[in-house]
Amino acid sequence: MRLLLAPMEGLLDDVLRAVVTPRGGYDYAVTEFARVSGTLLPERFFRRLAPELDSAGRTTGGTPVRVQLLGSDPSCMADNAAQLARLAPAGIDLNFGCPAPTVNRHRGGAVLLDEPELVHAIARAVRRALPDGMPLSAKMRLGVNDAGRAIECAHALADGGAQTLVVHARTKRDGYRPPAHWVWVGRIADAVRVPVVANGEVWSAAQWQRCRAESGVADVMLGRGAVADPFLASRIRAGALDEPDEALREAEWAVLKEMLGDFRERVLRKVAVRHAPGRIKQWLNLLRRNFPQAELLYGRIRGLARLADIDRVFLASGIRIAPVLPPLQTTLRKAA
Ligand SMILES: Cc1cc2nc3c(=O)[nH]c(=O)nc-3n(C[C@H](O)[C@H](O)[C@H](O)COP(=O)(O)O)c2cc1C
Repeated sequence: MRLLLAPMEGLLDDVLRAVVTPRGGYDYAVTEFARVSGTLLPERFFRRLAPELDSAGRTTGGTPVRVQLLGSDPSCMADNAAQLARLAPAGIDLNFGCPAPTVNRHRGGAVLLDEPELVHAIARAVRRALPDGMPLSAKMRLGVNDAGRAIECAHALADGGAQTLVVHARTKRDGYRPPAHWVWVGRIADAVRVPVVANGEVWSAAQWQRCRAESGVADVMLGRGAVADPFLASRIRAGALDEPDEALREAEWAVLKEMLGDFRERVLRKVAVRHAPGRIKQWLNLLRRNFPQAELLYGRIRGLARLADIDRVFLASGIRIAPVLPPLQTTLRKAA
């Protein structure tokens, strides 16, 4: 039984991965997508997207990190995959799920599911460009408007050389609207010979259980649910499938306060101070789904634009405030 941490552009970057993976027990995480369009992305681009490349492709907690590529030109994807492979990520993942209009307009992400031959050509070209030992996975939705070609696309990917398929059980048209059609994950898993991972709308251990039952697959990738409840994966691993009671949430909140302090510190090492409040609010906004304490805290900071004001609220709430350091990259650039 594998638990994977989903790629989420604009939400789950190296900072949040570093904070949530040590508690999670994930088999691996996937980075946000790197968009490939006509050029060879420089090494520094990949290192910025996945600083974990500097530590053997693992988060500080030791979770392997695969890097995701998105694009539609097989040979350009292959060249970029080869370049990336030289940096030794824990694996490479291909994106066939992004529904964003800007990406889709340039023939990337979920729209490619209307072109299974192209999907196959991309997977095959990338596989051929990679050393044998480099794991290749792919993440797909069920289709563009319906699931009519889902199995064809899954075959295209598996035959092309993807060794694991993650299926986000919705079409592009579905966007992120519930439900996720887990039963379709099972249909795909029955049709291909590579392991299939279920993804979509797993926010609780009970939903994890239902997702596995409905799809019949053992492995699940957690997305927003993992960010909204950083303890979800570890509870699943421990077999604690009931909704946490108040006492457990209280104990988890004590740990979460440390994580929030750690998050704030790491955010400040990466981004300018003025961008930190947005990042802090974004995570708290998701946490309040599960933690009344986060709801309270969010209510207190949502109207505050300055970090110094948020810090005061954090301090009063018992959250550690590390001194503000200039972003690491600026420091390094100045030193160079
Ligand atoms: C903010 C956001 C950004 C995302 N970015 C990516 C991405 O870069 N690559 C990708 O394959 N999927 C991306 N996804 C999709 C997620 O990986 C996942 O498939 C989706 O959220 C469904 O899982 P969930 O219901 O557990 O969140 C993104 C989702 C969200 C909400």
